[in-house]
Amino acid sequence: MKIAVVGTGYVGLVTGTCFAETGNIVHCVDVDEKKIALLKKGKSPIYEPGLEVLLHRNLREKRIVFTTDLKLAVDKSDIIFLALPTPPGEDGSADLKYILEVAQKLATIITKYKIIVNKSTVPVGTADKVTAILAEKLPRELFDVVSNPEFLREGIAVDDFLKPDRVVIGTTSERAKTIMHELYQPFVRQGNPIYFMDERSAEMTKYVANSYLAMRISFMNEVANLCERTGANVDLVRIGIGSDSRIGKRFLFPGIGYGGSCFPKDVKALHYTAKANKYNFKLLDTVMQVNAQQKKILFQKIKKYYKNDLKGKQFAIWGLSFKPETDDIREAPSLELIQDLLDAEAKVSVYDPVAMGNVKKVFGSKVKYQKNQYEGLKNADALVIVTEWSEFRNPDYERMVKYLKSKVIFDGRNVYSLEKMEELGFYYNSIGRRT
Ligand code: UGA
Repeated sequence: MKIAVVGTGYVGLVTGTCFAETGNIVHCVDVDEKKIALLKKGKSPIYEPGLEVLLHRNLREKRIVFTTDLKLAVDKSDIIFLALPTPPGEDGSADLKYILEVAQKLATIITKYKIIVNKSTVPVGTADKVTAILAEKLPRELFDVVSNPEFLREGIAVDDFLKPDRVVIGTTSERAKTIMHELYQPFVRQGNPIYFMDERSAEMTKYVANSYLAMRISFMNEVANLCERTGANVDLVRIGIGSDSRIGKRFLFPGIGYGGSCFPKDVKALHYTAKANKYNFKLLDTVMQVNAQQKKILFQKIKKYYKNDLKGKQFAIWGLSFKPETDDIREAPSLELIQDLLDAEAKVSVYDPVAMGNVKKVFGSKVKYQKNQYEGLKNADALVIVTEWSEFRNPDYERMVKYLKSKVIFDGRNVYSLEKMEELGFYYNSIGRRT
């Protein structure tokens, strides 16, 4: 099939590359000339495991083309995916300006039947808005607008795209349904479902999925806080409840709050949609409040331990990205923690396998960037674990003990067992477990 993907951000790039991988001819368009030049050379502007390998292969086979020419991409394609940003406005609403602008342009370019697919996370009613814009200039039989939300996780996006748990397609057009079904067949060969529904339900599904997961995390974070106060161990409680198939084992890990470009934005946007529809969605309010509170938890623990006096204390931070396997620091708990430590006049050194460049753009020379995880421990008063990268799980404990000024660890991700920490004689303060 012939496909255009408008927007080469994380969703657009993964979508375009994976469609090319299944034999389709894909034109990826972006207004950013530098990015397009980079992509033409097979270089990915984002860190996403496995993506560059597929990119190289499909560039070589000429199944994927990068261009800044929207008209060219549209002329050469039958299905046009919109993978454009929908940043949150001040009130939490998703800003649709990029999507609606492209829809205006498409209305002047399209001359034969095309399917326009909203891949971006867009509020309920967006497919109708795009349809209305196109219908101003085009006869109705020349297009269909489909809502096809993505459920990719950063760091495993390629795998998620190639082997999705489910594909959700919102359309009431039989013609579009048949084509979309054919397009997605290669990805559901193991028998995973493609769910067809109306556009509004598909749009809602995406927000509800993310908000529900965010709610689970906030719930577990509160459970962890209660466990600390009652002497229970949240890791055991988590296992105890997760084995109930109605609850499930996944996404129950407490920590220092959810971050990233999706959960915070999508919970806010769903909350806004509720408000705009005169519904007070109380639970979402609380999910956001709990998350804001949890992002402060490590700093509070640190402050308490040092009796509010952090001046001149030296902290080594391990992990900066909002989660492992990504260099994304959007809404990362590390940013708030670093700022709080600096405000308290502490000294901060940081290490992350891939996200240090991005953090440098925020903090410049205010913090020290270490070339490996151990360097920052030299003479540090404490180690603070913020992101659970695999390499932190089984470290060289001897070096840790040798380098640290005092054997103190604040762990926001429960990376170590209490037994191991006890054996090594660490003061070990984690989430939802005894100290
Ligand atoms: C999330 C969803 O999981 C994807 O399905 C969705 O497609 C994507 O948003 C999106 O809307 O684009 P992502 O933001 O990449 O994916 O990251 P997750 O792996 O879901 O983690 C989100 C946050 O929750 C991270 O800060 C992580 O540390 C936190 N988390 C996750 C926990 O605190 N506990 C858990 O048990 C799981």
